[in-house]
Amino acid sequence: MSHPVSASSLYDRVSRVIPKAEWMSFENDVDAILKLKRRRNAVILAHNYQTPEIFHGVADIVGDSLALARKAIEVDAEVIVLAGVHFMAETAKLLNPEKTVLIPDLGAGCSLADSITPADIALLRQAHPGVPIVTYVNTSAAVKAASDICCTSGNAKQVVESLGVPKVLMIPDEHLARNVARETDVEIIAWHGHCEVHELFSADDVRQLRENHPGVTVLAHPECPPDVVAEADFAGSTAVMSDYVGRRKPARVVLLTECSMSDNVAVHHPDVEFIRPCNLCPHMKRITLGNIRAALEENRHEVTVDPAIAVAAGRAVERMLAI
Ligand code: 13P
Ligand code: SF4
Repeated sequence: MSHPVSASSLYDRVSRVIPKAEWMSFENDVDAILKLKRRRNAVILAHNYQTPEIFHGVADIVGDSLALARKAIEVDAEVIVLAGVHFMAETAKLLNPEKTVLIPDLGAGCSLADSITPADIALLRQAHPGVPIVTYVNTSAAVKAASDICCTSGNAKQVVESLGVPKVLMIPDEHLARNVARETDVEIIAWHGHCEVHELFSADDVRQLRENHPGVTVLAHPECPPDVVAEADFAGSTAVMSDYVGRRKPARVVLLTECSMSDNVAVHHPDVEFIRPCNLCPHMKRITLGNIRAALEENRHEVTVDPAIAVAAGRAVERMLAI
């Protein structure tokens, strides 16, 4: 994404989703961040769930977890600010060990990453000897290091099938594992982690949306429970949902996912009506223009990965990217 030189010239881009008065309260930080990026030779990688003033105002690279991991390899700046959650910053560091990777708030975690530890993986290996472990990227570097290969919601089925085995363990997201299991002949053993945002959607929500908004196209993230995905028209990662809206241009759409996603996609599609029941991710929402600015001004919070686990964790991520 290329940026005009000042915050005021950026407003047109976001005028459909940010009121002018609110944007004016952001301008000072946006201008400061644009200058700081040049001064520090820094880039900002922002996940699709970041608020529109971050996503459209200051980010250089945006996308789903898979795209952020892929594009992190191509970055030639010295500093990467990860506007997203901690596992995303760790993944960027694994792929760029020589660069400074900053996360503006160390508390930006993830309920999935918190649901499993390396000790749990050791017990799984004992219980299922020889069964490979496919680990969702929404995990700590230590859990990745104890696994065989990573996946994201954008490539999970492909990764599972790439292993050429009849059975895999897929951790930690139970719903993602069950949603993938419906699409493949590979037997999948799941863990019991859930995304605290997507597990709140129900199949009944989908039926009500269809009743209240006739003709609405329902897109669901695969972290939603399987009965929600079954009721939806289509399921895919945040990038895949965004592409779907761009390609199919539904007249009315609802994205069953985090709230900022609709704002960010709506900016590009003025002709599509977005119905907006959504759930906020409290972790993603910890990232603000104010703490991105402070991150660049004060070089905080630097994300490091213990060298004892970095090699194995990086291998699991790189194995996924090679597919
Ligand atoms: P995506 O990889 O689809 O962007 O999802 C990341 C995430 O945290 C979803 O909750
Ligand atoms: Fe984790 Fe869910 Fe938030 Fe994504 S939306 S970062 S999976 S808690």
